[in-house]
Amino acid sequence: MRLLTGLLLALCATLCQAATLTVDTGHGTRTFTTEQLLARPDARDIAVPDDVSYHRSMTYRAVPMKALLDGVAAAAHLQFTALDGFTAEIPASLILDAHGAEAWLAVEPTGKPWPALGDGKPSAGPFYLVWLHPEAGHVGTEQWPYQVAAVRMLADPASRFPAMRPAPGLAANDPVMRGFAVFQRNCITCHTLNGQGDAKLGPDLNIPHSPTEYLRDDMLRTLVRNPQDLRHWPQAKMPGFDRRTLSDADLDDLVAYLKHMATRKAKP
Ligand code: HEC
Repeated sequence: MRLLTGLLLALCATLCQAATLTVDTGHGTRTFTTEQLLARPDARDIAVPDDVSYHRSMTYRAVPMKALLDGVAAAAHLQFTALDGFTAEIPASLILDAHGAEAWLAVEPTGKPWPALGDGKPSAGPFYLVWLHPEAGHVGTEQWPYQVAAVRMLADPASRFPAMRPAPGLAANDPVMRGFAVFQRNCITCHTLNGQGDAKLGPDLNIPHSPTEYLRDDMLRTLVRNPQDLRHWPQAKMPGFDRRTLSDADLDDLVAYLKHMATRKAKP
C-alpha cells in the first residue's frame, strides 16, 4: 500500500504538475491550485515592461494579489516563501493600496512553462509576484518574490523584533522612524539588526558594530547605491538601490536610523 501510494505520488508529480499556493491570512489557511487561479474571473493578461527577474518585458496570466488577501490588515506584513525556503517580506499596505503600485500574482500555466531564469535554472514559476507601476510605491527589487509556494501574514516587524525598534517616544515623522520604515522595506529581507529578524544572507547591521561606526557617511551611501562601487568581488550578493527605489531623502532617513541604533545595541 505504501509503495503504491508512493508510485501514484511520483506519477502525479510528473503528470499532474498541480502546483498549489498556500495563503495563510491569520484567519485560516487556504490553498489554490494553478487551475483554480487561472479560472478566476479576475485573472488577466498583463504586460510587465521591466521585469525584475527576467530583465526584459514579459506578459503573464495573473490575478490581483490583494484579491487573495481577504481580511489582512494594512499594518500587517506578508511573508512570501519560495520553493527553496527563501523568504521575502512585504508590508501588506503596499499590496492593498490600490492607488499606487499594483501587485499581481503571475501564474505559470501547467504544461506551458515560463523561460528559465538562467542557464540550468528553473523558471520563476509556479507563482511569481510582479508589479505594475512599481515606482509609484517605491517597490524594491527584493519585493518581486518568485517560485512562490506560500504566503503568510505576520505581525509587523516592530512588534516581532523589539530590538530593532528606535527609542520610544519619537514622533512618527522623525527621520529615525522614517528610516526604520525604509529599513523594513529594503534591508530586512537580508540583514538582521541587533541579532533579530529572519534574514540569513547579509551581516547584522548593528552588532558587534554598526556600519555607521566604521564606514564614512559618503562610503556607506556609495555602498547602498551600488555595493560594487565600494568593494568589488565576483560573488557579492547585495543588490544596489537606485534613486527610483530609494530616494536621497530615504537614504538620509536610513542613515539616521542606523546611527540611532548604534546607540541602542543589544547586549550579547
Ligand atoms: C538581497 C539581500 C540584501 C539586501 C536586500 C541588502 N543587503 Fe546589504 N548585504 C547583503 C550581503 C550578502 C552582504 C555581504 C556582502 C555581499 O555579499 O554583497 C551585504 C553587505 C552590506 C553591508 C556591508 C557590511 C560590511 O561591513 O561588510 C552594509 C553596510 C549593508 N549590506 C547595508 C544594507 C542596507 C542599508 C540595505 C537596505 C537598503 C541592504 N544592505 C540590503 C545582502 C543584502
